[in-house]
Amino acid sequence: MRLIVADDYDAMSQSAGDELVSIITKRPSASVLVATGNTPMGLYRELANRRQNRQFDASRLRVFQLDEYLGLAPDDRRSLYGWMLRSFVEPLGIPSENVVRLPGDSDDPDAAGAAFEETILAAGGIDVAILGLGPNGHLGFNEPPAEPDSPTRVVDLTSASIDSNGQYWGGTEQVPRRALTTGMRILLAARQTLLVVSGAHKRDILSRTVSGPITPDVPASLLQAAPNVMVFADRAAWGSDLSRQAVQALLPATEI
Ligand code: PGA
Repeated sequence: MRLIVADDYDAMSQSAGDELVSIITKRPSASVLVATGNTPMGLYRELANRRQNRQFDASRLRVFQLDEYLGLAPDDRRSLYGWMLRSFVEPLGIPSENVVRLPGDSDDPDAAGAAFEETILAAGGIDVAILGLGPNGHLGFNEPPAEPDSPTRVVDLTSASIDSNGQYWGGTEQVPRRALTTGMRILLAARQTLLVVSGAHKRDILSRTVSGPITPDVPASLLQAAPNVMVFADRAAWGSDLSRQAVQALLPATEI
């Protein structure tokens, strides 16, 4: 795991953008698992600008949706699919046939989750996962505790996730109580992972993610044992009780 601490949110988004453009340039047909949430939006704007400046071509990427509320039609204003289309797929000019939706509105969401995993495996697995960090340590909607081999499945959202998702939709009462999430076993098998973390409210969970015990109780801590994980944090998120020396000892590649 590598931790890159940038001065502020914009610098963090640019730094993650540099990395992602380099990955896409090397592998233009990469399979990408795409998060929504507030944190990656700066990164996606950065990518959209660079694509407009013809710095890279995203048209061959294959996109997989990370998570979705249960029971929402794709055109529901709260659909995470719609958010992913608006923020990532459309600005990057990715054709709709390259996008694999996680169908939270399926009559049999567990079977749909299994089919989704088969599609990922048939595509050769995920090349790069773009993830945000939940205030409770969740990745996607892998709420704690989440076992490393957990499949793509239906989950009950915790009150922490309902509270934090309320900001997207105008109040917690707007937030569905259940979701379909890509499972930890797919996330942890990604060839590369970019985790973006911003803001002082993420300090405690960031320090538990990068240097706490590896435990299902903090699903993001399982990334410590995954290959090629880069954590991009801004200084506000980084201002944890960990000393710089302590983190550098744990994570020698840390850039601060
Ligand atoms: P945020 O959400 O980027 O809006 O903080 C992260 C998450 O809950 O996974």
